[in-house]
Amino acid sequence: MTIEMDFKNKNVVVVGGTSGINRGIAETFAAQGAAVAVASRNQDKVDDTVTALNKAGASKALGAAFDVRDPEAVAAGLQTFHDELGPFDILVSGAAGNFPALVADMSINAFRSVVEIDLMGTIHVMKMAYPLLKKPGASIINISAPQGYQASEAQGHVGAAKAGVDQITRVLALEWGFEGVRVNSIVPGFIEDTEGVKRLLTDAEFKQTCIDYTPLQRFGQKRDVANMCLMLSSELAAFVTGQVIEVDGGLYLRGSSFFGKSLGDKLRADKLN
Ligand code: NAP
Ligand code: COA
Repeated sequence: MTIEMDFKNKNVVVVGGTSGINRGIAETFAAQGAAVAVASRNQDKVDDTVTALNKAGASKALGAAFDVRDPEAVAAGLQTFHDELGPFDILVSGAAGNFPALVADMSINAFRSVVEIDLMGTIHVMKMAYPLLKKPGASIINISAPQGYQASEAQGHVGAAKAGVDQITRVLALEWGFEGVRVNSIVPGFIEDTEGVKRLLTDAEFKQTCIDYTPLQRFGQKRDVANMCLMLSSELAAFVTGQVIEVDGGLYLRGSSFFGKSLGDKLRADKLN
């Protein structure tokens, strides 16, 4: 049997696609010859990514700068993509913010900022993209995180937001399944060379512990997450919707409570010093 994944005539939108894991996803679809649009807040990062997408082999590459916390800006940005590309076959929503902080020690605005980027941002992206999706046929992928299922100290803001991302994924799989739109979320484990790992795994010993706890005994690579996006957006996954899929080397099975405990211990120790 020959397995075919052909993305040459597909329109792909990756929100939060200008760095890290999400940029890896955008570049992977570009290398398959898809037309790819990316968005984030920073125009320079958008421009740099569009150049890279063209180099990678995108049939078309474009970008827009907007903040996912602003629903009107999201709608206007997505409309420019639709004007240029037509209906979206694949929509990836992965804009996120994170910093380690204990709930008692962070401001309400700090908590709200992360919920507004991760959860409300994802809802804005999906809702504003809804009229612009290819129906039937579109595949939506939300990028979630282990904190959504694993209660993690110093990650209350992220956990609350990503748990919401996973539940809205399931709800919209039900509501939009009738129109042939699939909605799934991917939960990456620890992914090497990313902002998330840089912000949270600040020393070599802690990094090694994270590898030791991961059954496959390594950090994930951006391509591991991107490959799952290819699969989920292909005919191979035509009957898969409403799923929260870990791409984490098996971390889910072992749990990652050690991670939150370590972040919490460090912040508590900092307060005493
Ligand atoms: P990253 O490089 O910081 O990527 C975040 C992206 O979102 C950037 O393109 C950023 O660009 C954009 N963004 C941030 N705030 C935004 C806003 N308000 N409006 C629009 N765009 C915004 O982070 P990453 O570590 O690769 O993480 C990517 C995704 O994977 C996130 O959803 C994260 O929760 C998830 N994840 C990561 C890991 C990991 O190991 N790194 C593990 C589990 C889950 P601008 O700053 O230019 O806006
Ligand atoms: N600890 C506690 N509070 C923090 C913090 C930290 N390390 N970093 C920021 N905050 C607070 C700020 O003090 C502010 O609260 P205040 O108004 O009460 O002072 C609030 O969070 C918003 O910060 P601000 O810098 O104004 O927000 P922003 O919208 O410019 O940035 C962030 C959003 C804070 C999430 C920022 O870290 C970001 O843009 N991250 C994107 C990249 C990223 O996090 N990647 C990893 C993805 S896993």
